[in-house]
Order: sequence, then structure tokens, then C-alpha cells
Amino acid sequence: MTQTAERPPGDYDFVVVSNRLPVDRVVAPDGSASWQQSPGGLVTALEPVMRARDGAWIGWSGQPDLDFEPFDSDGIQVVPVRLSARDVENYYEGFSNDTLWPLYHDVIAPPTYHREWWDTYVEVNQRFAEAAAAASAPGAVVWVQDYQLQLVPKMLRLLRPDLTIGFFDHIPFPPYGIYSQLPWRTQIIEGLLGADVIGFQRVADANNFSRAVRRLKGYTTKSPIIEVPLVDDSEGVRVTAPIRRAKEFRPVIAKAFPISIDSASWEDLARTPSVQARARQIRADLGNPKTIMLGVDRLDYTKGIGHRLKAFGELLTDGSVAVEDVTLVQVASPSRERVQTYMRLRDEIELTVGRINGDFATISHTAISYHHHGYPREEMAALYLAADIMLVTALRDGMNLVAKEYVATRFDDDGVLLLSEFAGAADELSKAVLINPHDIDGLKEAILGAIAMPDRERSARMRSLRKRVLGNDVEKWSREFLDVLNDSAADGRRG
Ligand code: G6P
Repeated sequence: MTQTAERPPGDYDFVVVSNRLPVDRVVAPDGSASWQQSPGGLVTALEPVMRARDGAWIGWSGQPDLDFEPFDSDGIQVVPVRLSARDVENYYEGFSNDTLWPLYHDVIAPPTYHREWWDTYVEVNQRFAEAAAAASAPGAVVWVQDYQLQLVPKMLRLLRPDLTIGFFDHIPFPPYGIYSQLPWRTQIIEGLLGADVIGFQRVADANNFSRAVRRLKGYTTKSPIIEVPLVDDSEGVRVTAPIRRAKEFRPVIAKAFPISIDSASWEDLARTPSVQARARQIRADLGNPKTIMLGVDRLDYTKGIGHRLKAFGELLTDGSVAVEDVTLVQVASPSRERVQTYMRLRDEIELTVGRINGDFATISHTAISYHHHGYPREEMAALYLAADIMLVTALRDGMNLVAKEYVATRFDDDGVLLLSEFAGAADELSKAVLINPHDIDGLKEAILGAIAMPDRERSARMRSLRKRVLGNDVEKWSREFLDVLNDSAADGRRG
């Protein structure tokens, strides 16, 4: 990756703002450090747009207390924002991941409300907004990502009324009955309404948001438009660009744009001979069981890993499946490890895995092959190819891109996707075997049904799923969002 001197700030026509940068700071064993591109779909989708339009990406390096100068990373200007150890504790681990995350995922775990966490969330959002304001050229488009930065749109609009601002919420937006718990519910709504376009994963999320706006602000909503008065009486602050004064309100669009993956590149990877050889090797190493089931998740309580283990454990106990015939491979990548709820979850999951393996594994066959690591894309593609059944049992999930990755790699039209109806992906992937993860008997039946599913049904379902995933990739997602955003900017100029 080339890293060259930066260009002057205030010069970028397209600016992305997200909590994490698209590059990771990697420290080698000899102590030398470098930046490496992280393999996420968002970067892949936005890279071409950024190169074509003079793009800058603002975010945190992932490490506390470190200052980095902006630098060029293969044509993208990377602008690191510094977070102190206290910011990480209060803004990232605290308010983002111990308040908002559980609240927005239907309070599966109880959210914690701390006023100091909120204060730091405001401070850090202001820092990101200032960095974005400083990087943006006159009239630039700024695209803010996710729940960690919900105040940035309004803060940025106050600093730079000339900008066109988009926001995308990657996680669910909860029903009002849950959202209304949040002591700072009105400030968050106002923060988001600073954007011109607010994107959500599902239609239900956009509706939940509009309802919260009606209840808390009393604004008129005519889906997908929310009419934000030019002068907000509750604050007496003029929040819109002078150019839009002719209208009584500023239209804000709140709409679903389901995110996707770089589908073709996953398929290409799966077609590579070395990946296919690795998939065969994985099967052989597991003792060539008749059925390999796979789970791939961040180790997070929203993913329903415990429910999946319970169902599999009961199938082994009641003799519906034998350990020689069925193996579950569970990849649980480490996540947010300093947050209490995540520490407890890890203990619970690992205890359960240990018990099931202790009860059922033989010297030659393990029941659950458990991996607490992340893996490179090549290994993931091989695991997907090796898996006869993919288990996605999330209790609540914005989208779930693992479900889409599995489908994209299955160019052989084989494999069964078991998909929770509480994952955003279920709206599009209706030809998966849809399950309610809370219904353990239903889940067990679905697993047995998937094991016994006739070839013809498997391939018919997979063909239909592949049409959806290959026809709707992340590039199309970003294009559609940015088209709506650019149109809203053009309407604003005309108005
Ligand atoms: C979810 C969120 C992302 C976040 C990712 C990993 O997908 O929507 O914003 O980056 O989880 O979590 P982390 O806390 O490690 O950034």
C-alpha cells in the first residue's frame, strides 16, 4: 500500500466518516508498524467513488492515545481522529456498545445509562464533525456511518451549511416503545435529522425512526420524507443553508437501503482452486462427516449463538443426530472484549461448547469445532464451501452479511441457509429456511429438515438466493444511496 504526503485539508469533494478507519494499524513482531487495508465490503464499495471524486475517510485508528497525521492510502486520503483511553471507555465501550447497541437490538441485554458516557459521546461526535468540516471542500458530499456517530449530521450542518450530508444506520432502529427509554432520545433524533438522507437496513427501521420523529418532535412525515421546519422552535437555531430559505421546511429522506457485500469477489474467491482444495481439506480434517454445519459471528449476544448450541446439544442428546455424522464448526471472532456483557457471554458460550464436546465428542469426531479468532477471506470462503448448512440464528441483526457471503460463495448451487427472521437479510432472502431462534423445537426441526433436504430443493433455493445476492451487491447499494443524496442536494439548490 502506498503512503504519500497528504493534500491540504478542506479540499475533498466526498468525505466518509465512520468510527473505524478502513485501514488497521498493524504492529509487526519487530515493533515496526504499518497500515493495512481492512477487508470490509464498505471500503470495497466506496473505493472507486473515493478515487473518482477526491475522497477522504475520517475515523479512529482503533488504538487509544495515538496521534497520526493524515496520509494517502492508495488514492484515499485517510484522516485519523484521536481517541483518548477515557474516550474509548466512555464513548466506544460505554455509550456506543453498552447503551446504544443493546437498546437498538431490542434490549436483548440490558442497556446501561450513564451521564458521563453521554457527555463523552457528545464530545467525540463533535470532534468527528469538526474533522469532517475541516476536510470538506465547498459543497462537498459527506457520508456519516452508523450508531457511534448519530450526532455528527446536525453538528456538521451547523458548522458547514453548504454540505450535503448523508447518514447510514447499519444496525436496527428500535420500535418507539424501546427507543423511548433513552434519556437522550430527543438529542439523537435531532442529531440524525441534520442529514439530508438517512438510510436504514429495513423498511421497518425507517418506519420506527419516522414514528420516533413524530412522537418526539411532532414533525409531519410523508414517507419517505420528513418535513423539518427551517427554524426549529425548540432551539431557535436556523439549521438549514440560506439557499433553502424559500421553503418552510427542509425535506429529510428516511428510507431503507439494504446493504450488501462485494458478491462477485466472494464468488471469484470460492472458484479459486486453492480455496476449493482447502474446503476439501477442512472436510477431511473434520473426519468427513456427512453434514458440516457452520456458524460465523462476532462473539456477540445478538447473534443467538447460545440458542444454536442448545438446539444442536438437544439433537445429540435425543439421538436425532450422531456425532459421527454431523459436526458444527463455530467461528466466534473476538469482539468488544472489555465490555462486561461480552465477557460474560464468552464464558457462557465456552462453557456450553466444553460441555457438549465433553458429553459427545469421540477421539475421532468432535461435536463442535470452536474457534475464537477472525480468519482471512480465503479461509472463510473455504469454510463456506465446506459447509452443508449455514446457521444464522441472530436474535436481532441489522442485516447479517455472513448470510450473503455464504450464498455468494456457493457457485455450485448447493448448501442450505438457515436464516433468522430477526436478521435484516430475511426481508430479501425469503428462499432461505427462515427460523425463529427462540423456538428451540422449531430450530431443531429446521436443522433436521436441512440435513435431509433433497438435492433438487437445495439447488432451487440456492439459485434463487444467489440471484438476489449477486444482483444486489454493495456497489449497487452505495450507488443507490448516493444517487438519492445527490438528487436531494440538487432539489435543495433549486428550492
Ligand atoms: C457492527 C457495526 C459496525 C462495527 C462492527 C464491528 O457491524 O455496525 O459499526 O464496526 O459491528 O464492531 P467494532 O465495535 O469492533 O467496530
